[in-house]
Amino acid sequence: MDLKLTGDTALVVGGASGIGLAIARAFAREGSNVLLWDRSAETPARAAELATESSTTCLGQIVDATDFVQVKKTAAEINASFGQIQHVVYAAGMGSGKFGFPFWKLEPSDWDRVLRVNLLGAVNVAHALAPGMAERQQGTFLFISSVAGQIGSQTDPPYSAAKAGLINFAQAAAKDLAPHNVRVNTICPGMIQTPLNRAVWQAWNDQQPADAKRAYDDWAGEKVRSVIPLKRWQTPDDIAAYAVFLASYQAQNITGQTLNVDGGWVMHW
Ligand SMILES: NC(=O)c1ccc[n+]([C@@H]2O[C@H](COP(=O)([O-])OP(=O)(O)OC[C@H]3O[C@@H](n4cnc5c(N)ncnc54)[C@H](O)[C@@H]3O)[C@@H](O)[C@H]2O)c1
Repeated sequence: MDLKLTGDTALVVGGASGIGLAIARAFAREGSNVLLWDRSAETPARAAELATESSTTCLGQIVDATDFVQVKKTAAEINASFGQIQHVVYAAGMGSGKFGFPFWKLEPSDWDRVLRVNLLGAVNVAHALAPGMAERQQGTFLFISSVAGQIGSQTDPPYSAAKAGLINFAQAAAKDLAPHNVRVNTICPGMIQTPLNRAVWQAWNDQQPADAKRAYDDWAGEKVRSVIPLKRWQTPDDIAAYAVFLASYQAQNITGQTLNVDGGWVMHW
C-alpha cells in the first residue's frame, strides 16, 4: 500500500531508541525525511544510521522535551533549515524507576519527573508545533501512551497517570485542531522488549528478596502469557506500522482515537 508519505517530514521525539526509533525508520522507509529529537547523546548517530539505510534526509538533535524554551527554539530553527514538519510523533517516555504497591511506597516527589517527561514534554512539543500546522491546514500528531493509562495500573502509578493524561490531552488537541485539518491520535502499546520495559522488571527485581528474584525473560514472559490474550510480545515494528498508517491519507478520517496495539490486553465494549 502506497501511503504517499514520500517527501513529507516527520519529527519523532524520543526517536533514539526502541519504539520511537522503529517509527522513525518506518517513516524513512516510506520516503519521508526524518528528524529525531531525543535527550540521548546517541541521537545524531542514530539519525546518521537511518540516513545510510534509506535514501531520505535524517537529522538527529539532542533535545530535552521537558525544556520548553529549548523545544520552541529548536522548532523555530528547524522550520527554517530542515523544512516544515508534517508529522509529529511523541514517543519519549520513562518510568519512575520504582516498583511497588500500594502507591504510598513511592514518594510524591517521585511523580514530578515522570509527569514532566511522559505528559508535559508532549504538551511542550504540541505548543511549539501545532500553531504552524494549524496555519498550514495540514499535519498529524501521534502520542505514544500505554495500556497502563487505561487500566489504573498499580505497577508505576505516576507513569499510568501521566499516560492517562496524555490520552486526554490528545482528545482535546484533536478537537481543537480538527477545524484546521490536523489530526491527533494515540497509540497504546502493550508489552515490548525495550530498555524502558526492562527497567520496569529491574525495579521489581531490585526489591525482591534473593530467593524471589527472577530473570527478565522469565518475569516478563509470564506477564505476557497471563495478561495478553494473544499470549505474545508486541514489537516496535508493530507500533511503527500503525504509526505510518495513522500519518497517511489512508487514515484521513481518524482523529482523537486511542488505538491499542497490545495483543488484546485492553478491550472496550
Ligand atoms: N516498551 C513497552 O513495553 C511500552 C509499553 C507501553 C508504552 N510504551 C511507551 O512507548 C514509548 C517509547 O518507549 P520505549 O519502550 O521505546 O522506551 P525506550 O527507553 O527505548 O525509549 C524512550 C526514549 O525516550 C527518550 N527520552 C526520555 N526522556 C526524554 C526527554 N525528556 N526528552 C527527549 N527524549 C527523552 C529516551 O532517551 C529514549 O530514547 C514511551 O512513551 C513508553 O512509555 C512502552
